[in-house]
Amino acid sequence: MSDQERACGLPTGKSVAVVGLQWGDEGKGKLVDVLAGEHDAVVRFNGGANAGHSIVVGDERYAVHLVPVGVLIPGVKSIIGNGVVVDPEQLLKEISDLESRGVDLSGLMISSRAHVVMPYHKLEDAVREELACEGGENSIGTTRRGIGPAYADKAQRRGAIRMGDLLDADLVRRRVAEACRLKQRFLGNVPETDAAVLGERLVEYGRVLRDRIVDSTYLLHDILDDGGSILFEGANATLLDVDHGTYPYATASNACALGIAAGSGVPMSNVGSIIGVAKAYSTRVGAGPMPTELFDEIGDGIRTRGREFGTTTGRPRRVGWIDLVALRYAAAINGTTHLAITLLDVLAGLDELKVCIGYRLNGEITERFLPDGPSLGRVEPVYESMEGFSGDISGIRTLSELPAAAQAYLDRISSYCGVPIGLVSVGPERSQIIHVSERCGCAAR
Ligand code: GDP
Ligand code: IMO
Ligand code: MG
Repeated sequence: MSDQERACGLPTGKSVAVVGLQWGDEGKGKLVDVLAGEHDAVVRFNGGANAGHSIVVGDERYAVHLVPVGVLIPGVKSIIGNGVVVDPEQLLKEISDLESRGVDLSGLMISSRAHVVMPYHKLEDAVREELACEGGENSIGTTRRGIGPAYADKAQRRGAIRMGDLLDADLVRRRVAEACRLKQRFLGNVPETDAAVLGERLVEYGRVLRDRIVDSTYLLHDILDDGGSILFEGANATLLDVDHGTYPYATASNACALGIAAGSGVPMSNVGSIIGVAKAYSTRVGAGPMPTELFDEIGDGIRTRGREFGTTTGRPRRVGWIDLVALRYAAAINGTTHLAITLLDVLAGLDELKVCIGYRLNGEITERFLPDGPSLGRVEPVYESMEGFSGDISGIRTLSELPAAAQAYLDRISSYCGVPIGLVSVGPERSQIIHVSERCGCAAR
């Protein structure tokens, strides 16, 4: 694709990242799907099957957890980077589901250095959650996909298994035996730590996935050396980032743009644009503070209209007003060049929209986020009231056609965060997107 053909006017010859700025489910999958055709590869660099990215193409709805969204665009390579933790059972299920729907998965590759999520990781995740409750502590409300324990084993080094190990049957049997010996000390002699069974299962996964397990770092550098560009697909989100999120109510990886270099082997100097995706309101799944959470019928209405039920676990999502204090913090952490505001259509019909512009803490007002679970739990939101808008906006494709109050709402988000809006999503479908030409030089399509 020539530079002239590139939509959205994003810096040419440069790669792009799509990352979540809130607590996940911002519509990253949809944005990646909209932008993937402009790139040679789509790369997941963090997280695992805790992610759930939904894409709507015409009447078809797809939900992927591990497979990058790029698989839906013919000719685009889809790469699971070294920073992802891979549950091979889940991966094979997704591959077979997508293939049965006619999706071409020939471009799907997996880093040999990505770590394997084992059945004992999922057991350990569940046990930790249950023990936390018994101890009187809140559980984190994890997806129980084994994410934390898998990353912990990666850091432990002994007893860890990588996708590349699956290519050598003897090696993987040895690695599984070593891992199970360690795990039995903590979890007991349970089916999830049965080395003989798990070893043979991994040998079989290796046989089936053999052609897809590659050195993805060289693959990506070859694409860049040939003048190509890469779209990085963030999973989870900034406020769930293990370092910068609302710890301990967070996930176990660097779930913002800071994870790209470590999780793919591509230096950030190659990433020209960082698109921070934020819903026009807030949602959160699982435990942890959420200052703007709504417990009334306004929240219920947003949940229903926005179909706010988890893609991965089906749990109802907690819903609240947009939190600009959190958003500005997240935008800064990522080096966000453009905001993508999604699900704006869901707010239509509300007379008043509230935006959180500060936190009250110990009698004082601050505009600084508190990236620590217990501290953030003590703040009270300070709101600014804005006029609502009504009508069906899902067919609108230019910013100027949006109701004036919706434009003012977007302007407030952008001015508070100090970041231009590049895209506005007004419905789940691929075509329901506004490229904001007048704000970021994006060529409207
Ligand atoms: P992700 O994890 O960030 O990819 O987001 P999810 O796919 O988990 O959740 C976003 C949900 O919102 C999905 O059901 C999407 O189909 C849907 N969606 C995305 N953008 C829009 C939008 O602009 N309007 C509406 N109504 N739904 C949207
Ligand atoms: P996408 O990519 C929403 C949340 C979980 C839990 C916490 C830790 O779809 O936006 P984990 O299983 O990662 O140890 O759970 O993080 N969480 C997500 N919430 N969307 C996600 O991903 C999430 N990934 C993790 O609900 O609170
Ligand atoms: Mg999701």
